[in-house]
Amino acid sequence: MKKIAVFASGNGSNFEALAAACADGRIDARIALLVCDKPGAYVLQRADRFGIPAFVFRPKEYASKADYERQIVERLQAEGVEWIFLAGYMRILSEVMLEAYRDRIVNIHPSLLPAFKGAHAIADAFAYGVKVYGVTIHYVNGELDGGKIIAQRAFDYTGDDLDELEAKVHAVEHPLYVETAARLMKESR
Ligand code: GRF
Repeated sequence: MKKIAVFASGNGSNFEALAAACADGRIDARIALLVCDKPGAYVLQRADRFGIPAFVFRPKEYASKADYERQIVERLQAEGVEWIFLAGYMRILSEVMLEAYRDRIVNIHPSLLPAFKGAHAIADAFAYGVKVYGVTIHYVNGELDGGKIIAQRAFDYTGDDLDELEAKVHAVEHPLYVETAARLMKESR
């Protein structure tokens, strides 16, 4: 069975969706490690509940991004991790990580890329008056929310409630990430 790592910085609802799907066999993989750059993030409690070990670090304690990424890569390789799934990991990856896991790093973004890149995609699209929203899953490169698209799912929303919209986006994210990860694991056998 393939070993994967999930990188997350915050709430971790996508982490949980992936963890649940790995646990019950919908994704043919095991999450060997959660990588988290925010001590205290709620995602760590979720990992605990699933018995998934976490590598937690404080970026500020390292001289450079390359430094902490080298340490993460070392740990990932020691665990035998083959694929990385970013799930709300709020950092751009450097060449250290990209080279070690070329074409094996995936991200989920809450907009129909290439529209609305960045950390506030849902609110930005809402403020713009968008009527068709969606979610994108893509390979990761060195650009913010760049990289080739793997899957997208769109839905109409013409309401005026940002909280309701956010809930709808997350409800689309979780099954799409699970289905896409399952397909990638199957195809890369
Ligand atoms: C999601 O909207 C994801 O698309 C984006 O960050 C958010 C993470 O949410 N990259 P959660 O931590 O998985 O709940």
